[in-house]
Amino acid sequence: MTISLARGIPSPDCLPVEELADCAREALRRDGQTILSYGSTLGYEPLREWIGERHGVPPERVVVTNGSLQAFHFVLASLGPGAVVVERPTYDRPRKILFAEGREVTEIAIDDDGLDVDALEANGSAALLYTIPTFQNPSGVTLSEERRRRLAALVRERELPVLEDDPYGLVRFEGVPLPSLLELEGGEHVRYSSSFSKTVAPGLRVGYLIVSTALASGLQGLAASTYITPGLVAQATLHEFLRRGLFESNVRRVCDLLRERRDTMLEALEHDLAGRARWSRPEGGYFLWLELPEDLDASELLTRAQKSGVTFVPGTDFGGEPNTLRLAFSYVSPDEITEGIGRLAKLVASAAAPV
Ligand SMILES: Cc1ncc(COP(=O)(O)O)c(C=O)c1O
Repeated sequence: MTISLARGIPSPDCLPVEELADCAREALRRDGQTILSYGSTLGYEPLREWIGERHGVPPERVVVTNGSLQAFHFVLASLGPGAVVVERPTYDRPRKILFAEGREVTEIAIDDDGLDVDALEANGSAALLYTIPTFQNPSGVTLSEERRRRLAALVRERELPVLEDDPYGLVRFEGVPLPSLLELEGGEHVRYSSSFSKTVAPGLRVGYLIVSTALASGLQGLAASTYITPGLVAQATLHEFLRRGLFESNVRRVCDLLRERRDTMLEALEHDLAGRARWSRPEGGYFLWLELPEDLDASELLTRAQKSGVTFVPGTDFGGEPNTLRLAFSYVSPDEITEGIGRLAKLVASAAAPV
């Protein structure tokens, strides 16, 4: 059986199926006539209130979308002309969307402390900075607090519009949570997107944006012409889940399940690949980033890996170097992770000299 270290989705045991089934029934019973009809374009009102309260902003600034990728599209549609600055590597879907739209894209490298803020400072003006500061997809790295503060100051000084994409922030296994750019900058230039995909369930398709009140009401027309009304049944089901106080305990449960998988992957890498590759050590999220010796091409390795029954995503899909790749520890079981890394390591050992 093929072991997928490619899929950035939660393992089935992360999903609170029974609880959501019960919440869906109760949401329909309680508010069925509202949520089964067309309704508020910017999202189910009680959910907008819950999200606003959580982030300390009025609900008028919250736009609940069908997943946070939708939020990216909405922000993009609201931009003026100019380049979009992204991290290198960065999440492949926004990258593809930007190139497909013919946007000028400026890539700025990341290192173990996240985005290179000096390089950003040296860069000229831009229409937007798209950044994933916490447990980044694909690298798993987190922007350090010092860089967050410098970035927030730079954004203010340059009046640089930012989209802070933060679906993984709460999926923290250890260490101290860092302030978001939204918190540090206050939300004048920073638009913030997040999602319940990683903390509850991606199939709900509930993401959200926090923007200025003016931009939120400006997005109303676009949201209406995209889907008339977002998926209110899912939003009300999720709201019932939150109202019952199930969110925090579910996030803890998900973190426990994923911590074990992250630990298993790090142990397997240390055991099987020490001296032959380098990798990031994320404190949360779904992914880590593997750097092979420079003469090894991850896309070629993938062709051989597929024959050996293990998959991953080559780093070039994210704008990374040919010798890099993304490993997801979120989906398969710990035993499969150990087996998958073992299969991968054999292929690397047969192809590479030690680094
Ligand atoms: C960084 C990042 N942003 C956004 C998304 C989209 O998530 P969703 O549309 O499910 O909220 C993902 C999904 O993997 C992601 O990794």
